[in-house]
Amino acid sequence: MADTIPWSALLREAADLLGDQDARRIVEEITGAEPGRLHRVLDDPVTERGVARFDAMLARRRAGEPLQYVLGRWGFRSLDLMVDPRVLIPRPETEVVAGLAVDALHARARTGQRELIVADLGTGTGAIALSIAVECSTARVIATDASPDALAVARANLSGIGRAATRVSLHEGSWFDAVPPAAEGSLDLIVSNPPYVADHEDLPEVVERWEPADALRAGPDGLDDLRHIVEHAPRWLAPAGTLVLEMAPQQTEVVAEMASDRGLAPSIHPDLAGRARAVVARKAPE
Ligand SMILES: C[S@@+](CC[C@H](N)C(=O)[O-])C[C@H]1O[C@@H](n2cnc3c(N)ncnc32)[C@H](O)[C@@H]1O
Repeated sequence: MADTIPWSALLREAADLLGDQDARRIVEEITGAEPGRLHRVLDDPVTERGVARFDAMLARRRAGEPLQYVLGRWGFRSLDLMVDPRVLIPRPETEVVAGLAVDALHARARTGQRELIVADLGTGTGAIALSIAVECSTARVIATDASPDALAVARANLSGIGRAATRVSLHEGSWFDAVPPAAEGSLDLIVSNPPYVADHEDLPEVVERWEPADALRAGPDGLDDLRHIVEHAPRWLAPAGTLVLEMAPQQTEVVAEMASDRGLAPSIHPDLAGRARAVVARKAPE
């Protein structure tokens, strides 16, 4: 027992190197302590396995890897999602976008419609699709991605949501090519957070280095994927169905105009920082 050390010592070591917040999250992850309850384990002796995990996570974080990948999971709305470099780290602005989708579905459910059919295009971790399945008990969600790697992560996350998982299906392919043809004209909601960064645009070094480029870049003006989705969405939506799209603030006006040109009624919505971030566009009722 003479040379055992308590978790408080490793927490201090990590805090000196990484700052308090990252240090706390890493020690919470290894010890399994609930957030805010770390004090309960700080006097416990560290096991050999614990030190090995701590050293490995500390080294990865010190090499610049995002905390979310080092931890291997990240919170999104009510979900605890597995994340790794095969997928984009889910962002707080996307939690707002998922909320807009959930609100649209709840409004549609109030009109008396029983089952709601949803497509989440470019699902990544499954963040939006799985939130919808969990928060809207009448939604059936078609989640797609062009990346088999991303779908593998979404599949792992699907297994973590319990019974709601029976209402989610995963499909590989490019945008609407992945959606079962029978759904054409009957989607109550299409939601997507597609790539929307212009090819020439600088990104923070940590994003550029660690996150998948295919999840971020979308042509010379960053609008290639948004343009494609807006163009094809009207054909796939049911009458009075809704399209919800995330994008960069400077893209919202032009995407709203595209939606309007395709016969949809658009509105622009802010993220938590108050920046224009999403377009919600409704198809006319029949
Ligand atoms: C910005 S990420 C969003 C991931 C997730 N929906 C989220 O909000 O965190 C864009 C996703 O679109 C996928 N993607 C890129 N091109 C695609 C395409 N042509 N068809 C379908 N998905 C695509 C990427 O693999 C990536 O998972």
